[in-house]
Amino acid sequence: MQTPAELAAFLRAQLHHHAHQYYVLDAPSIPDAEYDRLFQQLQDLEAQHPELLTPDSPTQRVGGQVLDAFVSVKHAIPMLSIRTETDTEATGAQAFDTRIRKELGLGETDAPVEYVAELKFDGLAMSLRYENGVLAQAATRGDGEMGEDVTHNIRTIAQIPLNLNLAHHTPVPAVLEVRGEVYMARADFEALNERQRARIAAGEKGEKTFVNPRNAAAGAVRQLDSSIAAQRPLSFFAYGLGQISDDFAAFATHFELLMALKVWGFPVAEQTSCVQGAAGLVDFHQRMGQARDQLPFDIDGVVYKVNRLDWQRQLGFVTREPRWAVAHKYPAQEQLTTVQAIEVQVGRTGKLTPVAKLAPVFVGGVTVTNATLHNEDEARRKDVRVGDTVVVRRAGDVIPEVVSVVLEKRLQDAQIFTMQHHCPVCNSPAVREEGEADYRCTGGLFCSAQRKQAILHFAHRRAVEIEDLGDKLVEQLVDAGVVKTLPDLYRLGFTALVTLERMAEKSANNVLASIEKSKHTTLPRFLFGLGIRHVGEATAKELARHFGSMDAIMDATLDQLLQVNDVGPTVAQSLRTFFDQAHNREVVEQLRACGVTWAEGEPTAGASLPLTGQTFVITGTLPTLSRDEAKDMLEAAGAKVAGSVSKKTHYVLAGAEAGSKLEKALALGVPVIDEDGLRALLA
Ligand code: IVH
Repeated sequence: MQTPAELAAFLRAQLHHHAHQYYVLDAPSIPDAEYDRLFQQLQDLEAQHPELLTPDSPTQRVGGQVLDAFVSVKHAIPMLSIRTETDTEATGAQAFDTRIRKELGLGETDAPVEYVAELKFDGLAMSLRYENGVLAQAATRGDGEMGEDVTHNIRTIAQIPLNLNLAHHTPVPAVLEVRGEVYMARADFEALNERQRARIAAGEKGEKTFVNPRNAAAGAVRQLDSSIAAQRPLSFFAYGLGQISDDFAAFATHFELLMALKVWGFPVAEQTSCVQGAAGLVDFHQRMGQARDQLPFDIDGVVYKVNRLDWQRQLGFVTREPRWAVAHKYPAQEQLTTVQAIEVQVGRTGKLTPVAKLAPVFVGGVTVTNATLHNEDEARRKDVRVGDTVVVRRAGDVIPEVVSVVLEKRLQDAQIFTMQHHCPVCNSPAVREEGEADYRCTGGLFCSAQRKQAILHFAHRRAVEIEDLGDKLVEQLVDAGVVKTLPDLYRLGFTALVTLERMAEKSANNVLASIEKSKHTTLPRFLFGLGIRHVGEATAKELARHFGSMDAIMDATLDQLLQVNDVGPTVAQSLRTFFDQAHNREVVEQLRACGVTWAEGEPTAGASLPLTGQTFVITGTLPTLSRDEAKDMLEAAGAKVAGSVSKKTHYVLAGAEAGSKLEKALALGVPVIDEDGLRALLA
């Protein structure tokens, strides 16, 4: 028979093990219900035998302890900060490596320095003190010398072990201080704010939403009542050490230390890498810069650390920063600003998009003045009002968007935004079809906004390309009533142009010349330029290849259209609807009458080109071809050009300074060719 003490110890060991599997390794080995059953059993046992309760019992994670005030603690070893540089270019890594080599007295013939490259997590620094293997204290960084004891809240974080994971008979360090970052994962943050919104809607007092995961995490850690902290889902990554008993301090490298921390049960970010020299750092910087938006948590940069610990000691510290580490920040992707107005913009196909006009703000590396609210439902869900202070996000190349409103800063008289049911430009009714998120203006080409967009689309670089026709000019031409339809472009005379404001003779001639030049085009470009809904560049190419001529495309039945590669019912229907309207056919006829021409060929339906069925990815800078030119050549030979490398990619066409795509190709064993290789393939 087991004694209650033995049973309690057994249950704790089981629960620790399964919690580690679940929260840290992300590999649960028992069903949730079974975990809950063991947990309940331990809770009951501890209730019957309070003398068996220990501070590292998993039951102590649920929170409940309430403090009157935080207690200050002195860090046994100060918590330093790292030198942070905001230059986002490779030069920063090079400068760091040069400095390190110089300080270590390394010459040109010495091997590259090995670094550990880590993510710079956007949370808050924490020092976790384990005494004889049990979590004894968790403290914030504070001023680096003195922090605050937040053990009661940190216990609620499932990813932080309450006791070290020790294999049988391995000795326990008397003291181990683990340093790392407490953060909130993005999905947890979203879910938390969702719950907060529900609470606010239900009229609960004193509730608010959080501006970003970092603030939410910091707020949770600074709760006096740990049951509140327990409801705020926090996570942890270990990245270093504070104090450690002498007999355990024999690590040779930082990486070795991180691996030991992993074994003891701490989460270490999987991106953490050992890299060689400046080139390795640059590469890590670039890869993480690209991966940043897909990570499940926020980072604000990367951190480089000299791997060898004897070298770290030799390099030492300047004031409060180690010489052996540096952080390189990426531009912030979120900023606060105010909404000055909410406008509704009309797209080429009549789609109405509510757009917040913002006080200019520098975010994600550019100055942003507009942020999309996407559509009516999104605008309503976010409840953005004029005058509101909002969080704007611009990540990568994605268009800027309003993430959330800072409700505490809302003005009393802020007006709720409602989507009008008519077009703001031409006043035609706007309709939202069943199952669609967007309102669309029904004005068609009667709507000057749609007309402007349609003309700009036709003139686009990848359509018939009218080089000198910019958006300001189109605006003027449409507003002056000179251009109402696409063919009107080809009827423009010198006089009509020079009479426009700010139009000199020379520019007028340039415009006329580029319009003239655009008359010689190709069937796919022309078809794409018509701006038929759902007919993008690739589809236009497929259609041209399949049918060979414009008339064949205009007359094709639904069934015939469905025969074309990549054409499904939506696209086919859209084409039919477009060409069933007499005025659209009329536009095509008039354009032809104005002299717009293209070569027509034999239909190649069913026939296959040399590279049909092959997928290419282009990366880097090619010696003579632009990427667009290479793409055109490949597509003309029947190949598909994709944006990212996968196992299904047939070739990667790589030029100078190819980055992660090339690496991925090499990792997956996808053949890599250069420009000469491309020419050879096509020959
Ligand atoms: S190392 C002696 N590594 O950045 C070096 N810090 O000033 C101590 N941070 O607030 C820090 N990710 O919490 C280190 N991988 C990482 C980090 C990291 C985030 C934070 C840290 C502190 C600041 C450093």
